[in-house]
Amino acid sequence: MEKAWQQCINSSCAATYSIDEILPACPTCGNLLDIKYDWNKVEVPSNLNWFEKRWSSRNNPLDYSGVWRFRNFLGFTDDKYVATVGEGQTILQRNDQVGAYAGMNPGSVYLEYEGCNPSGSFKDNGMSGAFTHARMVGARHAVCASTGNTSASLALYAHACDMASTVFIGSGRIAYGKLSQALDYGARTLQVRGNFDDCMKQVQDVARQEKLYLVNSVNPFRLEGQKTIMYRILEGLNWQVPDWIVVPGGNLGNSSAFGKAFAELKELGLIDRIPRLAIIVAQGADTLYELYTKRGLRLNSEDRDAKIKAYYAELDASGYTPDTVATAIEISRPVNLVKCLRALDICDGVVRSVSDEQIIEAKAVVGKYGLGCEPASAATIAGLKQLQAQGIIGNDQRVACVLTGHQLKDPTVTVTYHIETAGIYSNKPIEVDNDLQAIISAMNQ
Ligand code: F0G
Repeated sequence: MEKAWQQCINSSCAATYSIDEILPACPTCGNLLDIKYDWNKVEVPSNLNWFEKRWSSRNNPLDYSGVWRFRNFLGFTDDKYVATVGEGQTILQRNDQVGAYAGMNPGSVYLEYEGCNPSGSFKDNGMSGAFTHARMVGARHAVCASTGNTSASLALYAHACDMASTVFIGSGRIAYGKLSQALDYGARTLQVRGNFDDCMKQVQDVARQEKLYLVNSVNPFRLEGQKTIMYRILEGLNWQVPDWIVVPGGNLGNSSAFGKAFAELKELGLIDRIPRLAIIVAQGADTLYELYTKRGLRLNSEDRDAKIKAYYAELDASGYTPDTVATAIEISRPVNLVKCLRALDICDGVVRSVSDEQIIEAKAVVGKYGLGCEPASAATIAGLKQLQAQGIIGNDQRVACVLTGHQLKDPTVTVTYHIETAGIYSNKPIEVDNDLQAIISAMNQ
């Protein structure tokens, strides 16, 4: 048996493929693929604190990377292929004020700030995995559909790996910070007249037809990189398992990766329990909430795939298009839906939806008391507040909220909140005459 291989997640198929193949889906049955490992062929430490020894060798780029210092759990590659730009230098910040906003006791809320990544979002964790695989297979041109962050991250890694890149974005549906990154890093940028779901479908067809390397989260190597966000949360908690992980849901790659990370750590005996997972979606893009929470769809539901199909047909029939201020998660057909159901199963998960108003207010709280974040990331705090009020998350439980993207990704939403709304946390600039007395009196107001 190989050290690592690709395997269909559909247990009645479970077909396996070499890691040297470029497969956006299982060629046999069309389902998503996982990366699987023969753990007997990988060096697995007996205790997670073993990884601390790599802190002292940060001049080695693999040990410096917040992804590859955990490479024992990403054993699909040789070191020579690793694509790293120093991703994963993130902070797990204890934040009592943000916690208090959500009704939580001091010491219970931690913010995993993924905005520290080189391109300003968690995507760099995954892109590091995907581009490592792209280098293993000699790919020359990477493509993705994106609500913005994937395109920024793809563009950064493509130029770091000397590869061509093309990104597909929905016309007018991308925050300026993200668009500016894709342009600046030199990606060919196609603004498709449609939304993210349209772009996702097109890019899959184009990648297949033109034999291009697809780095959306259907790419299982991307999710291997995103597992490391969970290792870093454990590391930040001195290797203790939190009670809850709270994460925003869009294309559902993160939540899928988190479930896999914990299932593997448990299987390896490196953790004694698995935290619960709360996935928070926006009300204006709430497919997962509708299917999982309202209609009770589960991984093992009878006719699961037919039920998903029927729901999408309902969306089509009603002419539904997702619409939320959190453009990063404005997605109605999440490609990782089934993997995410598996993660919810593994982690005894819950799904909640929050309104745009709740997201924007929570974002202002993260800005006022934390390191700031973009709207989609703040859905976690709005979701935590809701789950605390519902008594599902206890106010003394230990919760890690993943803040997926940097505050500067979407300045328009931030500035609009502070200048144009009378929100509780609005901090409007004060216009003042160019006059000393006027300035002093404005400062004393
Ligand atoms: N938060 C941010 C800031 C994102 O950019 C995304 C997804 C998510 C959350 C959702 O994560 O897809 O793993 O559930 N952005 C993608 C993009 C879709 O194209 O940048 P997910």
